[in-house]
Amino acid sequence: MKIISAPLQGFTEAPWRRFHAEVYGSGVDTYCAPFVRLEHGAIRPRDLRDSIAEPRAVSQIICRDTEEFRALASVLTQNGIRRIDLNLGCPFPPQVKHGRGAGLAARPEKLAEVLQAMMQFPEVEFSAKMRLDGWQEILPLLESSPIKSLAIHARYRQQQYDGEPDLEEFARIAETTNLPLIFNGGISSRSDFDAVAGRFPGLAGIMIGRGLLSRPSIAAEIRQGREWSADERIEAILDLHRKLFEYFSEKLCGPGQILSKIKPFWEYLEEEIGRKAAKAIRKGNSLPAYNAAVNSIDYLP
Ligand SMILES: Cc1cc2nc3c(=O)[nH]c(=O)nc-3n(C[C@H](O)[C@H](O)[C@H](O)COP(=O)(O)O)c2cc1C
Repeated sequence: MKIISAPLQGFTEAPWRRFHAEVYGSGVDTYCAPFVRLEHGAIRPRDLRDSIAEPRAVSQIICRDTEEFRALASVLTQNGIRRIDLNLGCPFPPQVKHGRGAGLAARPEKLAEVLQAMMQFPEVEFSAKMRLDGWQEILPLLESSPIKSLAIHARYRQQQYDGEPDLEEFARIAETTNLPLIFNGGISSRSDFDAVAGRFPGLAGIMIGRGLLSRPSIAAEIRQGREWSADERIEAILDLHRKLFEYFSEKLCGPGQILSKIKPFWEYLEEEIGRKAAKAIRKGNSLPAYNAAVNSIDYLP
């Protein structure tokens, strides 16, 4: 059963994916890059660079119709990408309003056209990622499409990212389809992973989002079958942070830019580093204050 790193805009961009793989080794089998979209008819160059950067990554696209789909898939394939995921779950109103993400899933006739257009890219392995809404109608379309696997974020659009995943509804999907399925939603510990893997042994994979941000060692711990000690975890977190910090310091100009890129790294890590350090990091608005806050994390190597 594969472990897949979920795409999270603003968190799992290429530097995070690359350094996460470097620090935590082979725990994650596949990293899915956050979606790229068309803006004024093109993908922003830095978004494109990011999406194609990581060798173990799947690129993700969000589109509203075949025209957008073809434009995005063409650019990605021209850049050597051979694995593309179609976002059918994004609940963000600006996307949904334009018929993208969950908005495309809500228009099965448009979705059918997009799936049909996949035939024009035989060199690409396509997958899709969706929520629970309307799965009965969507599933037959996906099953007769070139899609090779389907990730289900087992929540409804209305829930956004909160609340419990609905395992019962996911079970109904698993009973209904022969498509290789990937479970996603709320996995934040080894026992969460074991519970889902135990209940659905036929899964192709389990995708982890915020669980990998709040406990970046989770995939390695699952693979190794052991819990890492607090010190081991902090050591690896600080190692990952150092690599990211050095990368941003080299690439970006000025403390403001560096801080705005590096601070999200800590957003889900409060439980690992403690409230006091997390608060000091949030408040650290100059590089010296920020670095002092990071250095205050209790660390006993
Ligand atoms: C800040 C944020 C950004 C996200 N960006 C994307 C995205 O670009 N593409 C996507 O398919 N899902 C995106 N998601 C959804 C996650 O991939 C995942 O489905 C969701 O967080 C549920 O998994 P989790 O409970 O393990 O975090 C995003 C979620 C969050 C919280």
